[in-house]
Parts: sequence; structure tokens; C-alpha cells
Amino acid sequence: MPTRHAEPRGAARASPPGATAQRRRIGAAKLSAPPLRPGIVDRPVLLDLVMSASEAPVVLVSAPAGYGKTTLLSLWRSRDERPFGWLSLDATDNEPAALVAGLAAALDPILDLGDASPDDILPALVDACIERRRDFVLVLDDLHLVTERRCHTALGYLGERLPAGCQIALATRTDPPLPIASWRAHGRLAEVRVAELSLGVAEARAVLAAAGVRPPDEQVAQLVERTEGWPAAIYLAALSIRDRPHAEDFVERFAGTSRHVADFLSEDVLARQPEDVITFLLHTCLLDELTAPRCNALTGRSDADEMLRALERSNLFVVPLDEERRAYRYHHLFGQYLRAELARREPELVPELRRRAGRAGRRRQPSRELSDAERRILRLLATDLSLREIGRELYLSTNTVKTHTRAIYRKLGVSSRSDAVKAGAPPGGSPG
Ligand SMILES: Nc1ncnc2c1ncn2[C@@H]1O[C@H](COP(=O)(O)OP(=O)(O)OP(=O)(O)O)[C@@H](O)[C@H]1O
Ligand SMILES: [Mg+2]
Repeated sequence: MPTRHAEPRGAARASPPGATAQRRRIGAAKLSAPPLRPGIVDRPVLLDLVMSASEAPVVLVSAPAGYGKTTLLSLWRSRDERPFGWLSLDATDNEPAALVAGLAAALDPILDLGDASPDDILPALVDACIERRRDFVLVLDDLHLVTERRCHTALGYLGERLPAGCQIALATRTDPPLPIASWRAHGRLAEVRVAELSLGVAEARAVLAAAGVRPPDEQVAQLVERTEGWPAAIYLAALSIRDRPHAEDFVERFAGTSRHVADFLSEDVLARQPEDVITFLLHTCLLDELTAPRCNALTGRSDADEMLRALERSNLFVVPLDEERRAYRYHHLFGQYLRAELARREPELVPELRRRAGRAGRRRQPSRELSDAERRILRLLATDLSLREIGRELYLSTNTVKTHTRAIYRKLGVSSRSDAVKAGAPPGGSPG
């Protein structure tokens, strides 16, 4: 008899009939990875990152819309030798019995769950993982659509108990309320976020070339800077460039208001937010730097602090400017888009919001100060160590060093390493 694990409180009990029947009911579309369309660019560094994290039972891929989460997981599936179960979640899965039935259906071909007892399908699933000793990856795509607490309890149960070799990969626009910090601390979590998913210049060049456009390198670099490496925007830019005789003008003017980007942001991002979030975004978009007091001043709210953190958790295109999370800014293209939306929806409000933004902006800007970690990195930027070597020196991942370096550039208002070193150096000394 398999050992039955304690069932999570509040998770599904009354699950529907056997997993095989569920598979038929749910249908192949939700249970298969979307096909990789031609022109998808390989992401060897990212694949290396996820494939080398096979000891972590949970892989969290958390980033805003269009950051390449699904594409990365499809690429991973095409490279890994292990079988993949796939479940594209939708609103019907936001209910524990439906969710657990979906998990079982996705894993049935791998674990042969057949007629697993409907009452304790979740513990049976864990038992099957342990007993069958078949390594696999189970992808749950669009996890942000699942918000029910008991669904998270069920997923937490699975994340706690999956044996080595079995992984669940969670793709989501919003960090789920799962024990992420604890899994991270216990080495049970691998994370892929905006910093990793953003495209670099070479990757952007490849995305553009696959769409049939080959602008000169400076323009590709400019596009990467403007889009902050956001894959969907780079692809949308490629489509726009393709139809134009003067690509150089276009790249220069490419903004969040460019038609394809604006349509995407409007349909895929803004329209899905609750009304109070939309109002907050529109009423704060004139600020270069979002701090709680400033946002409160602009919106008349008193909880901007919470709101900003919620926006960050929801990956709503806000970028933290310091480690302490005191200041944020909007992703450039998202900010431009919001400002155009504000002017379209509430033109009469713009002058007053500008006045308030001006007054709020004149206050002291604490976030321009470098944090301790940034100071340490700045000191090493003055040497000839590479970012990877700096990471090794300070026991930080290369990505963390990159994130800090970007923050340093922003705070010092520079765009190169040598300028950062010059700007950060106290008169007559090295940066301290
Ligand atoms: N590796 C890649 N090569 C080429 N284009 C890419 C790549 N990754 C992402 N893209 C572009 O970005 C778009 C969005 O990618 P994807 O659907 O994977 O994003 P996502 O993060 O899953 O978004 P959502 O939150 O909407 O599900 C793709 O349609 C494609 O145009
Ligand atoms: Mg997706």
C-alpha cells in the first residue's frame, strides 16, 4: 500500500472521476504546450539556467505579459529528455477540485494514474511520483488566473512533497501566494524573472532578423534600450518596421503609443486590471519616480505604499529603483502608454496632476542614494573585473550584479561603466 500523505486542509476532496477520463474531458488544447512558431529565437543561457536547476522541485517563471514565459517553457520542453505534462490554466481551474483534476489529467500519461481514487487524488499523485520513480516536469501556465486560496493550498502541498527529479514549472504574471521565501531558503525553488527574460542586443537582433528586418546595430541597441528587452515589444516593433520604408525614424520614435504595442498593453494588460488599479496607474504615470508619498499626493489615497508593492508583485511593469523598495518607476514603454491613455481618457485632469507631480518632485529624492550593495559593486566596477567575476567576489549571481549595475547607472544618470565610475568617485578618490 502506498503511504498516504496528510491531505492539505481545505484542498480538494471531492475530485471528479479517474484521471484518464478527465484528460478526455479537459481536451488536448489545454493539456499541450502551444507549438513554437517559426522565428522563435533560442535562449541557451536561460535554458541552461532552468535545466541546471533540476534539484529544485519548483521553477517559478514570473514576469509581465509578453516577457516570453510560455515560449521559454515550450523551448525547455523541446530540449529536456524528461516527459512534460502541460496544463494551460484558465478561469475554470480556479476551483480546487477542477485544478487537481487538471493536474492529474496532465500527469496521467506519465504516471498512469488511471482510476486514482477521486477522494484523495492529490496524495495519490504524490505517492505515484515517489513510487513510479519517473522524472518529469509539470508545467502550469498562466497561474495568475488561479486566485482561490484552496487552489494555492493544493499547489503548496505538491511543491512541498515532490521528490527529486520531478519538477513543477509555474508561469505567471503575478507572484503566487505560495511559500516562495521558504522554498527559496531551502533550495527548493529556481526563479526566472524579468532580469533573466529580457532580451539582450544579440537576441533582439535575432528576433528582428527572424521577422525579416535587419536594422543596423545601433538601432537594435536603441530598441533594446527603449523596450528594456521586453520580447513582445521587440517582436511588435519588428512587425512595424517591416511595413515601413524608414526604419531609422521608426526606431527613434518607437514608443508605448506605437499602435501594436498600445493595442497589446490595452488588451492584455490594462483591460484586465480592476478599476482602482487602472485609476492608480493613470494618475501616477506623470511621475518619473514613484514613491509612496508622491503617489499619495497625486491620487489622494493613503495606501500607495501597499499599492506599489502590489503592482510589483503583479509584475505590472513597475521597476524597483532601490533594494528597500522605496521608489519605483514604470517600464518606459508602459509609462508612455499610460500617459497617452491619461490624456485620452481624462484630459481635463492632466494640468492638475502635472502641478501635483511638479510639487511632489521637488521634494528630496532619497532613492538616488546608492545602497550598500550598490556601493560595493561600484567599487569593483572601477577594476577590470567582469560582472561575473564581481558576482563571485561578492557572492552574488551575475544577474543580481547586472540589476544593481543598472540601478547604479540610473541613480548616477549615466549609461556606461566608465561614466558610472567617474560619477561615483568622490573628488580626488575612488568610489566609496
Ligand atoms: N525566444 C523568443 N524568440 C522570439 N520571440 C519571442 C521569444 N520569446 C518571446 N517572444 C515574443 O514575445 C511574445 C510573447 O511571448 P510569450 O507568449 O512567451 O510571453 P508570456 O510571458 O508567456 O506572456 P503572457 O503573460 O501574455 O502569457 C511572443 O509572441 C514572441 O513574439
Ligand atoms: Mg504565456
